[in-house]
Amino acid sequence: MTYKVVRYLNNANLERPAQTVTEFDTPELHQLIDDMYETMYASRGIGLAAPQIDIHKRLTVIDTSGGEADVEPNKVILINPEIVHKEGKQTGEEGCLSIPGFREQVKRHKRVTVRAHNVKGEVIEVSGEDLMARAMQHEIDHLNGVLFLAHLSPLKREVIRRKIRKLQQAGEWE
Ligand code: NI
Repeated sequence: MTYKVVRYLNNANLERPAQTVTEFDTPELHQLIDDMYETMYASRGIGLAAPQIDIHKRLTVIDTSGGEADVEPNKVILINPEIVHKEGKQTGEEGCLSIPGFREQVKRHKRVTVRAHNVKGEVIEVSGEDLMARAMQHEIDHLNGVLFLAHLSPLKREVIRRKIRKLQQAGEWE
């Protein structure tokens, strides 16, 4: 099944840290991960964090192929992730399924290594660069209640916030 992706300013929990996952390898967890991928592909995203579907757990799914048929899948599931190494810089356009219609240049590290649990609860380390590194940083931010807007200048952030408030008032932001 697909979930509804909640939008920025409509759900305060999007801006709060999510809770550590303590139970692994359960049917519920496997189902949730399947449903998160289904939701992400349906929304044409390359990453989705559980808080975006109003589930406040430190869990995120990524596939930098976006599920495109002619692109090799590149799936990474991160539970309770933390960045343990980061290097270099990259700047590129970034969007978010919780802030549809807004894309901005965002500075990120070029390469990161993340320590996380896999679905069985084993500790794994995953390294990525370029788009994968960007996706991992964006999604881990979500688990800390941080949206990509936090990486913009206060002025840009305020302009976007004002536009969204208008969309909200017009009933076009739900
Ligand atoms: Ni996002």
